[in-house]
Amino acid sequence: MIPLTEEAVAAITKSCIDRLIEKGGDRHVRCRSREELILMAAGRRGAPGEMKTRIYYFSGTGNSLHIARELRKRLKGAVLAPMVNAEKNGNMAPEADALGFIFPIHCLGLPIVVGEFLKKISVRPASYLFAVASRECSSRVRDDMDRILSRQGKKIDSFFSVNMPETYLPMFEVDSADEAARKEAAVPAALDSIAAAVNAGETRREADPRELAMYLYYALRPAIMFICNKTRYFNLENKFFADDTCNGCGLCEKICLAGKIEINADRPAWNRRTKCLFCFACIHFCPARAIQIRHSKTTVRGRYHHPLVSAAEIAAQKRTGVSLEPDA
Ligand SMILES: Cc1cc2nc3c(=O)[nH]c(=O)nc-3n(C[C@H](O)[C@H](O)[C@H](O)COP(=O)(O)O)c2cc1C
Ligand code: SF4
Ligand code: SF4
Repeated sequence: MIPLTEEAVAAITKSCIDRLIEKGGDRHVRCRSREELILMAAGRRGAPGEMKTRIYYFSGTGNSLHIARELRKRLKGAVLAPMVNAEKNGNMAPEADALGFIFPIHCLGLPIVVGEFLKKISVRPASYLFAVASRECSSRVRDDMDRILSRQGKKIDSFFSVNMPETYLPMFEVDSADEAARKEAAVPAALDSIAAAVNAGETRREADPRELAMYLYYALRPAIMFICNKTRYFNLENKFFADDTCNGCGLCEKICLAGKIEINADRPAWNRRTKCLFCFACIHFCPARAIQIRHSKTTVRGRYHHPLVSAAEIAAQKRTGVSLEPDA
């Protein structure tokens, strides 16, 4: 690999860049910036299809983890890394050509933990950035990410969303089995399309086609998000409790991504001093369906987690670093 000194850059002549463009000769090379082509020529970045990709994910009920895992299988040289504890695990300055961010939508936008993660991650100037929300959402979420990344002179190159099952129990019932299966059936094709775009280094930054139809939603979104974030979702983190059906199994303590739950005398207690990540892993994975949220209808609502994701795999986000095994 040639070190990217000024001399090295100077040595990369126009004809070298032209040859790269000629060699690629297709849209994925055309959409790369001149700076990226220089870096590719200097050996800092693999040619399309040969990139080292790191996929950061955050997932409470497994939808985003499922997408991340399935996408990794479709992307050459991709590894997974959880956003939770990434700083503690020393994963904040990735040596990757492409970075992916996969996450749920919380309160119409980025989960708080994802916003905090993006503020701290160090992104290489030439890296290709893509994001996948595990829920249909507006391109304004991408704009929110751009605002954070602009501090490093970067923006999301391609933004996608995949409509996965509902998990926000305080307001909504979970999807019926049929509805969840319908969404799941559409996932492989959606991931094939996302992987093709990412492998080609394409830029996909379309505006949300529903902007006009959902005028009111977009007009109110900033205010709703401001209130939700300011009040930490209306003090939601202090409204969890376990009812009498709790059997003291301790799973909620093990799975809690924030380390907020402690089992005392066979019953969980939510530590008020620890900030919740609002992942909802505790409430959806509790085998007794014993966890409820005060002043909401959680006692009569169902529970959901992705059928191919286990509680142990969700909990593993807390301690794993980067997963290098291609098929792990
Ligand atoms: C706290 C919270 C807030 C949510 N807010 C929204 C929302 O505003 N819009 C939406 O479409 N889905 C919302 N959802 C649903 C999730 O985005 C969706 O089910 C996602 O696929 C869950 O991903 P995960 O299993 O990886 O956590 C919310 C879920 C939670 C837990
Ligand atoms: S997971 Fe459910 S049943 Fe198990 S200790 Fe927690 S609340 Fe009780
Ligand atoms: S308390 Fe529940 S929702 Fe909050 S971080 Fe822990 S597992 Fe997630």
